[in-house]
Amino acid sequence: MKQSKRGGGALKILGIESTCDETAAAVVEDGRVVLSSFVASQIDEHKLYGGVVPEIASRRHLESITALVDEALKTAGLNADGIDAVAVSYAPGLIGAVLVGLNFAKGFGYANEIPLIPVHHLRAHIAANYLTYNELVPPFLGLIVSGANTCIVKVKSYTEFEVLGDTKDDAAGEAFDKAARILGLGYPGGREIEKLARKGNASAVVLPRPKFKDAPLNFSFSGLKTAVLNKVEDLKNKNQTVNVEDFAASFEGAVCDILLNSLEAAFNRDPMRKLAICGGVCANSKIRNEVAELAKRRGVELYMPDLKLCGDNAAMVASQGFYEYTAGNIASLDLDGVPTKSVE
Ligand code: KG4
Repeated sequence: MKQSKRGGGALKILGIESTCDETAAAVVEDGRVVLSSFVASQIDEHKLYGGVVPEIASRRHLESITALVDEALKTAGLNADGIDAVAVSYAPGLIGAVLVGLNFAKGFGYANEIPLIPVHHLRAHIAANYLTYNELVPPFLGLIVSGANTCIVKVKSYTEFEVLGDTKDDAAGEAFDKAARILGLGYPGGREIEKLARKGNASAVVLPRPKFKDAPLNFSFSGLKTAVLNKVEDLKNKNQTVNVEDFAASFEGAVCDILLNSLEAAFNRDPMRKLAICGGVCANSKIRNEVAELAKRRGVELYMPDLKLCGDNAAMVASQGFYEYTAGNIASLDLDGVPTKSVE
């Protein structure tokens, strides 16, 4: 175990996150104890455009990152010289947005003569579970369901991952956001759909559950989104009412079934004893309940992050950063941001 160079004891890592529309900074001790965590969401501004505008996202990150880091250090009761290493999400993400956090982290690391730790954003989502469950250790099966990614991974160790299934088109969160837009709801659509779905009938609108015959662990959400579009257009053309609650409930049900079908296939292939889910879409209560039922049925231990750790945050980055650092994964100052990169 690495020791703090700054006075012994626990390693204090500053995490930085800026891959999409949340700027975040956090200080985490030994990968498990959150000393501070701040997230500045840009949602209200992107809402005006119905989705994230990359140029605006980058500019807002630039404006808020310094104050967030100052606040994270102050709340943790530390000065910059109390930090042992700086961990940053360098991939995948909107590249202009990623570069803001990455360059800040490089400057912070250089000025304070501490290591720069590269963190894959999806590995960080998995690590949100380490912050919620102190007892969780790999190996386990991971289901990552976020705005830009949907995949099933085998977490072999803290830093070794194997992708078992991936989306072949849209991510689940992206599908939630696009379906919401078709239904005239606000951005981001996931939460809006969930709220309306509680008042709707999930059997009212018949929607597809695409499957890959030869690769049952893979996902596809694009056809589902198009089916919503076609059905809504059809009703409008016939001057019939679009029952948004029923569409929301039916869409949410279809996403749940698609996720559950692939999870069942994963457990049929490799009966692992533990399952950890993560990502913004895993804040959805129907998904949480249905995954919990699957876990119970299969006798699997289930780990789900606290709701505040499901969406993008920097505590998860600092947590994964601790394990990358412990494994000797340290970057040099020429580390580049990467828009798409496998979690492996
Ligand atoms: O993990 P995240 O914050 O961003 C990425 O790393 O991509 O996930 C954002 C996504 C959005 O697509 C949003 O609509 C979705 O998570 N989301 C939800 C819910 N809350 C957020 N989807 C379904 N139900 C929710 N309650």
